[in-house]
Amino acid sequence: MTKYEIVLHPDKKLKKKCLPVSEVTAEIRSIGSRMLETMYDAPGIGLAAPQVGILKRIFVMDCSEKDQISKPYICINPEITWVSDHKSNYEEGCLSIPDFYGEIMRPSEIKMNCLNENGEFLEYHFEGLKATCAQHEIDHLNGVLFIDYLGRVRRQIITTKMKKIKKQIVLNQGNV
Ligand code: NI
Repeated sequence: MTKYEIVLHPDKKLKKKCLPVSEVTAEIRSIGSRMLETMYDAPGIGLAAPQVGILKRIFVMDCSEKDQISKPYICINPEITWVSDHKSNYEEGCLSIPDFYGEIMRPSEIKMNCLNENGEFLEYHFEGLKATCAQHEIDHLNGVLFIDYLGRVRRQIITTKMKKIKKQIVLNQGNV
């Protein structure tokens, strides 16, 4: 299994609304495992399919602490069915916008339906980091990035810096 290359902001693939998965096939399972591998390698706690250039409604996450047993989730066609009134603030980052962070306020708890890699329908009640992570990843499936919640000026600064970083990466690759 080989890991994917992560799509960096700004990229139009990160601004698209992704399509639902019609059937959980072996190919979809393989996308899920490769996404997990890519996420662990990065390392990150969540990754959505458009971040690896696949415009399908799939995300993976593992919010377990370093000293805990890993708890990977492969979530297909996720749907938020309930959010708490109570909100919490987390400093969020994103593998597509490395080294930039922002405090984002989101509902502290959510209920979410999805299919797993075996096509089974599951209902989750997430709180804390998992709730934040799942909402961040589902946003990706709708073309929304965490920087879209920041002020326009802050978002512009990050985007400009990311453009420079991407240019540098291309130049470096050219020199190899
Ligand atoms: Ni992200």
